[in-house]
Amino acid sequence: MDIILASRNKKKIEELKNIIESGGFSGKDVSVNIHTPDEFPQCEDVEEDGATFEANAIKKAAYIFECSGMTAVADDSGLVVDALNGAPGVFSARYAGEVTDDWANLRKLLREMKDVPDEKRGARFVCCIALADRSGIKTFMGHVEGRIGREPIGEKGFGYDPVFYPEGHERTFAEMTDEEKGSMSHRGRALRELQDYLKEQGSHGR
Ligand code: IMP
Repeated sequence: MDIILASRNKKKIEELKNIIESGGFSGKDVSVNIHTPDEFPQCEDVEEDGATFEANAIKKAAYIFECSGMTAVADDSGLVVDALNGAPGVFSARYAGEVTDDWANLRKLLREMKDVPDEKRGARFVCCIALADRSGIKTFMGHVEGRIGREPIGEKGFGYDPVFYPEGHERTFAEMTDEEKGSMSHRGRALRELQDYLKEQGSHGR
């Protein structure tokens, strides 16, 4: 089947592709060809103004399905920090300003948390994946618990990866390979839910 990933974030597309291609989407159960919005110049960027990850993922997937005519998968994700009452949440990409700047966002997070003691640095990444096609829209959630470090460590990944320690690990997401991160990440978990669903439905669509 053909799937369009409703994102222009290159790192995110890369991660989604890796997880999809390594996770058994392709194979005898469901074989997948991945497309991106760049192939459809008529598709514009969608304003992410929803109050929840789910609302934003649905909005993106529905729009890209409508303008490309292809089964669409959208991811809306972010970091939810206990000590900041859930911030940055749906504003994760724009925490430090309207234009997404991963480094400025991460610096702001560390500044806001500089007086938060170790035992109160709990956080989770949340991801909602929305699937839109002619049968309608379905969503899949994934999350990973962890804690926020005190300085950025690691070169891999994107966004807040250098300060996020997944539960049970002494390395940040930015110190892990894509495969290792994908095996436990919010995005990996949500995608595996989608994968199970697609397998259940069979490769002939919903
Ligand atoms: P959006 O889903 O495009 O609205 O943006 C999600 C934002 O959340 C990204 O710009 C990152 O700041 C953050 N984020 C989401 N997933 C991850 C992740 O896997 N690692 C690090 N940061 C992430």
